[in-house]
Amino acid sequence: MSNNIQSVRGMNDCLPDAADTWQAFEAIVCDWLRRYGYREMRTPILEHTGLFKRAIGEVTDIVEKEMYTFVDELNGESLALRPEGTASSVRAVIQHNLLYDGGKRLWYAGPMFRHERPQKGRYRQFHQVGVEALGFAGPDTDAELIVMCADLWRTLGINPTLQLNTLGDYESRQRHRQKLVAYFEAHQDVLDEDSKRRLHSNPLRILDSKNPAMQALNDAAPQLMDELDDEARAHFDALQALLRANGIAYEINPRLVRGLDYYNRTVFEWVTDQLGAQGTVCAGGRYDGLIAQLGGKPAPAAGFAMGIERLLALMEVAGTPLATPVPDAYIVHAGDAAEAFAWQAASALRAAGLAAVLHCGGGSFKSQMKKADASRARYAVIIGDDEAAAQQVTLKPLRGTAEQTRVELALAIDSLKNATI
Ligand code: HAM
Repeated sequence: MSNNIQSVRGMNDCLPDAADTWQAFEAIVCDWLRRYGYREMRTPILEHTGLFKRAIGEVTDIVEKEMYTFVDELNGESLALRPEGTASSVRAVIQHNLLYDGGKRLWYAGPMFRHERPQKGRYRQFHQVGVEALGFAGPDTDAELIVMCADLWRTLGINPTLQLNTLGDYESRQRHRQKLVAYFEAHQDVLDEDSKRRLHSNPLRILDSKNPAMQALNDAAPQLMDELDDEARAHFDALQALLRANGIAYEINPRLVRGLDYYNRTVFEWVTDQLGAQGTVCAGGRYDGLIAQLGGKPAPAAGFAMGIERLLALMEVAGTPLATPVPDAYIVHAGDAAEAFAWQAASALRAAGLAAVLHCGGGSFKSQMKKADASRARYAVIIGDDEAAAQQVTLKPLRGTAEQTRVELALAIDSLKNATI
């Protein structure tokens, strides 16, 4: 067995071919967010562990079982690799008083870390694009978040379905909680270990159980929908009206409770059955209490995050091509004068916005042409001492049937910029 060091389990390298795809995806996403008026925010990957405990909830899988937490030996602080981005966003918004002049539409992207059992679509380092609308109370914001997702899915050529639920407000959740506890207490014998533990600390989470033995019990449990107060119901109705007006299909799933504690009212997930067990590609909802809970001036908020690995996998299933870049030219050269001119040609091409790979390491024209082919470049720019003396280059298409031509450097640059291959 090799004793070479490998990457950490569940954490993947993104090699150049994949990175091309990621960059193309990110470019689409950046443009989409710009068109909706959202602005990027970047926060650290490490935060104080207490932030996630307070925001996500002590009795959640993420905090109880999945967080990469360690003590900074230099000062004894407990730190955690961020398992998600909402807590950090809210922390930063409070810390920098970003809501002083009204609501903000923010987004972030980057790696998140959860110590889950790795499988297809589930990693220990994964990547999210998150979108947070902070300071907005109305159902129009919830609708905007959902409509913008649907818009992105169209661009990406994918078609996940929308599941929607409302968790109501604090009082209705308390009423529901009491009924749930009474119901589960009456069925203690069916509860699994996790559920027993959560019965008094977080009974709502029992509904989130993936254990098939719990499904029948959960299906018949008291529903929060029946406890909603008028305002929460009106919010949910208005959201649905906006979704219908915008042609967004959805299913109401009263069992959708989400795995993080900060939500109230609207919650939603975009799901697909095309990726096996890990079918949720995007999820979010409203979290009106979180800003105050983390010490900020009370303000409403809503948002979502999507899993980039899962979206790319779904695009692959759907066969959506993502244009990935290739060099415009690979410059081959032999001879001292040719080399000097090749350097000039490379910098002129790059100054004109073209991607030019300058051959390094010498070798015959033949071996350099092999490298040019392998580089996937559209053209070889060939420079011998003859060409150098005439300040010309030979332009050889590396695909298609067009003939090679020998032209002035400036003309070659024009041809490369306008050529369609
Ligand atoms: P979440 O449901 O925990 O929500 O994660 C959002 C998305 O991240 C999931 O739907 C999935 O696509 C992706 N994801 C989560 N865990 C993994 C994993 N282990 N491997 C691959 N992909 C994964 C949140 O994180 C909330 N912060 C969303 C939010 C933003 N709510 C309001 N604002």
